[in-house]
Amino acid sequence: MSETADAGDGAATNAGAEASRTLWHGRFADGPAAALEAYTYSIGFDIRLARDDIEGSRAHVRGLGRVDLLTAIEVDAILTALDRVETEFANGTFELQPRDEDIHTAVERRTTELAPAAAKMHTGRSRNDQVATDVRLYLRRELVEVARHVVALQQVFLERAINAGEAYLPGYTHMQRAQPVPLAHHLLAHGWALGRDVKRLLDARDATNESVLGAGALAGSSLPLDPDATAADLGFPRRFENSLDAVSNREFVADSLYALAMVGIHLSRIGEEFWLWSSGEMGFARLADGYATGSSMMPQKKNPDIAELARGKAGRVIGNLMSLLVTLKGLPLTYNRDLQEDKEPIFDSLDQVTAGLIAVAGMVETAEFDLDAMAAAADDPTAGATDLAEYLVRTGVAFRDAHAIVGAIVRDSLASDASLIDLVNDHDQLGAEAAQLLAPGRGVRNRVTAGGAGLGPLVDQRDRFAAAVQAHRAELDALT
Ligand code: ARG
Repeated sequence: MSETADAGDGAATNAGAEASRTLWHGRFADGPAAALEAYTYSIGFDIRLARDDIEGSRAHVRGLGRVDLLTAIEVDAILTALDRVETEFANGTFELQPRDEDIHTAVERRTTELAPAAAKMHTGRSRNDQVATDVRLYLRRELVEVARHVVALQQVFLERAINAGEAYLPGYTHMQRAQPVPLAHHLLAHGWALGRDVKRLLDARDATNESVLGAGALAGSSLPLDPDATAADLGFPRRFENSLDAVSNREFVADSLYALAMVGIHLSRIGEEFWLWSSGEMGFARLADGYATGSSMMPQKKNPDIAELARGKAGRVIGNLMSLLVTLKGLPLTYNRDLQEDKEPIFDSLDQVTAGLIAVAGMVETAEFDLDAMAAAADDPTAGATDLAEYLVRTGVAFRDAHAIVGAIVRDSLASDASLIDLVNDHDQLGAEAAQLLAPGRGVRNRVTAGGAGLGPLVDQRDRFAAAVQAHRAELDALT
């Protein structure tokens, strides 16, 4: 970065005095109370927007230059200073001052120290359109990063599904064994849900992808700003249509929090399943040592803490969405300081969901499945009851009657010592061919419905899922 940020303006002067002023000092005889500072300052968290605040400022400065509100020399000086400020943030040498109440104040204060012409930088701009711009730029980038982690987890499910071969386990409804399903089919179910998350994240990104610079505090400006040109400069495909709406709209944050909450819910449901599978009662999976924890007291324990935190943290990310919705519900137009409360929820949800995606991906990737335990749980002959009813349907029996016939046989076998297979063998409408349907693994081989839990349709499903994951990846690559 160049050290000539002051070009055209002489050396920065009076930096100390500037640093101790508020942005609005002119109107005030007294400085802010300590309690006001403690309660209202947002620099503690919005410092995460530094890069985006600088990016938005560059575009605004270039815009001021295009309409001759800044000279070319002033534009150069301010842009050079902004580069330097960005470097200071990047290498950790940026020094916050006590009156840097938020990131916008800090960047403008430091830029003006380096290039006095930056006193003109806020021309035609308000922190109201500035903060909305910053958050939009930030989310536009970060939502893509989260989506990449979602795709990485999809890839883990795909690979585990491929390696699962023809293994099967009980499918459950109401947590009662229902029908056997291929393990791969079960794993891909989570994968498809994650694919919808990618779409939701990108839809939220689309909602963020709109320029609000030029809206000013709420009314635009009497100066000849060009919001369309600024939008183009920042790579936004469109600009705001209404300045009042532009500075009060946080729906794109709500959309983002919803998309993130839904990822959190999916992580929770995956966690729940691995939590059950790794229990002694089910014994379908053993977690890798690196992805499990021990007990401080009970030497034998191995605990699924990632799974539990995936479940626990879902409450938190749902809470972040609720927090913003409640903040928004009573607000009159336009900017109200309440809107500052949009940032911590979004930062927290991004952090928690990202960490969760990485941890859950590791847990799923390294867990060892006990295929024998899964098969043994699925091989209970009653799991083939639906197949028996469908056998009767093929012989011309109405399904409702078939259901009743098979139900009665199951009831008989439960009430007596007779095995279901023997009862089916001896039944005049069923017999030996039907009894074959109760053989281990037969159910998953017989199922033919496209998208269903059969080994045949599964081949096609796996291909389609692999293609969908690849399409997500290409879509994300095109955005960065
Ligand atoms: N820190 C503020 C926020 O995050 C920036 C905007 C302040 N605007 C104002 N008019 N006080 O919302």
